[in-house]
Amino acid sequence: MQLFDLKNVNYLYLNRIHALNDISLSIEQGEHIAILGANGSGKSTLLKLLDGLIFPSSGIVKAFGKTLTENILDGEGGDFPRFFRKKVGLIFQNSEAQLFCPTVLDEIKFGPLQLDIAKTDINQRINDVMGMLNIENLKDRAPYTLSGGEKKKVAIASVLSINPDVLLLDEPTNGLDPRTQRWLVELLIELRKIGKTIIIATHDLEIVEEVSERAVVFNEDHRIVADGKAKVILNDTALLMGVNLIHEHSHRHIEKSKLTF
Ligand SMILES: Nc1ncnc2c1ncn2[C@@H]1O[C@H](COP(=O)(O)OP(=O)(O)OP(=O)(O)O)[C@@H](O)[C@H]1O
Ligand SMILES: [Mg+2]
Repeated sequence: MQLFDLKNVNYLYLNRIHALNDISLSIEQGEHIAILGANGSGKSTLLKLLDGLIFPSSGIVKAFGKTLTENILDGEGGDFPRFFRKKVGLIFQNSEAQLFCPTVLDEIKFGPLQLDIAKTDINQRINDVMGMLNIENLKDRAPYTLSGGEKKKVAIASVLSINPDVLLLDEPTNGLDPRTQRWLVELLIELRKIGKTIIIATHDLEIVEEVSERAVVFNEDHRIVADGKAKVILNDTALLMGVNLIHEHSHRHIEKSKLTF
């Protein structure tokens, strides 16, 4: 089943700053996709469009067969806004922009409460995600007093507590310690097995092959320049160098290390 369908999407911030240029993209249920591109190429903007937080300047974004507009996701959408918010969850690149409740516990409860999930299920889910992320000891803390990595964990927990079918993750491993990064990769592999759709914007090429079969590559002109098997794209050194995802120097270093080890 087709989940998202983007046709000739352009996005400009403030009517003048180009962030996405003529993007056409189709995403099927159960796909695991890495969105790759240099800083400023448009990855976060794409994820915000898929999450219905912003809307195209021109072109069309369809989700679950419906064109996403401000009206459809507000009062005029009938049951669709709640359906959509239960189905799709975005973990922001900047956790501070995601956290707004007085305590960590409120933060993790917020989504399930908004979405009318049964109270007993909510408590179970909250305990599960807090246990998984090892953040029970933070539950009464104010999110703004947490460290960067702790904020990230709470942001991840606040989305996992909704248990969405489609997970949009924006640089999810950034700022996490190695053990938590590994935990997250293992979790994504598990979620993949149970059929979740997972779309990750990342610079962390090492995790791409582990968690994604498909990769979509943006260039610095905010256009898609490659869309295909992650394995093939990760081996295309010329492509990755051309879009500034790897540097000639680090590439030579990799080549050299291959020779010596
Ligand atoms: N709120 C904003 N207001 C104005 N311009 C913005 C805003 N957010 C992003 N941009 C611009 O839009 C373009 C795309 O930004 P975006 O955040 O989507 O890139 P990105 O690929 O996620 O980059 P990064 O790897 O640094 O996270 C950039 O040129 C950026 O400067
Ligand atoms: Mg970004």
